[in-house]
Amino acid sequence: MRVVVDGRTVEVPHGASVLDAARAAGAPVPTLCHDDRLSPAGQCRVCLVRVDGRIAAACVTAAADGQHVKTGDPDVAAMARLALELTVERLPATALELPTELAACCTELGVGADRFAAAGRGLGRDDSHPYVHLDRDLCIACGRCVRMCDDVQGAFALTLAGRGADTVVAPGAGSWAQSACVSCGGCVDTCPTGAITQAGRPPGTATAAVDTTCGYCGVGCALTVHT
Ligand code: FES
Repeated sequence: MRVVVDGRTVEVPHGASVLDAARAAGAPVPTLCHDDRLSPAGQCRVCLVRVDGRIAAACVTAAADGQHVKTGDPDVAAMARLALELTVERLPATALELPTELAACCTELGVGADRFAAAGRGLGRDDSHPYVHLDRDLCIACGRCVRMCDDVQGAFALTLAGRGADTVVAPGAGSWAQSACVSCGGCVDTCPTGAITQAGRPPGTATAAVDTTCGYCGVGCALTVHT
């Protein structure tokens, strides 16, 4: 399929998204809830672009032959910035100081510390697990950790819980230590805000993916561990 992005024609395979086409054209499109390893969710709306004149989230819009995509439209960028401001407005301002995808996205879209709350939501932490720690105040409920846990690792240990702006990741009904977490570290690896961290490892620190076998129940399912 041929897609025209900002006047440049690129070839993308069937099944590609508008985001894929934009990347193929070298057009910068910010993303936050997107991870190439996961199915797209279209939740954060920071990847807005114009597709044949209409505003669409690039990550969940299918590319089509003859499509015209425009990135960098000032009106669309303002909408993406507003979406990001609404996402961070209840996060503590210290979230911007962490070397995370969220901080990079804020820099890209011009969202400063003044758009964050002075303090967090007071949702507390879960440090019950020996390897995986959660700071609920930093969670934006993008669902990347849940999709990683369910779709990639098959552990089904995480869900999103709470209401409205207080919705955050939760390890089922109990604490993280009581959950079905297999300590693979996939959630830590994909978290874009530093809400989920590995004990003893600062947020935003690169991890290495190692393909191994789950030893949880003896079936021996394939598992990717992030160390
Ligand atoms: Fe596309 Fe979040 S990255 S909606």
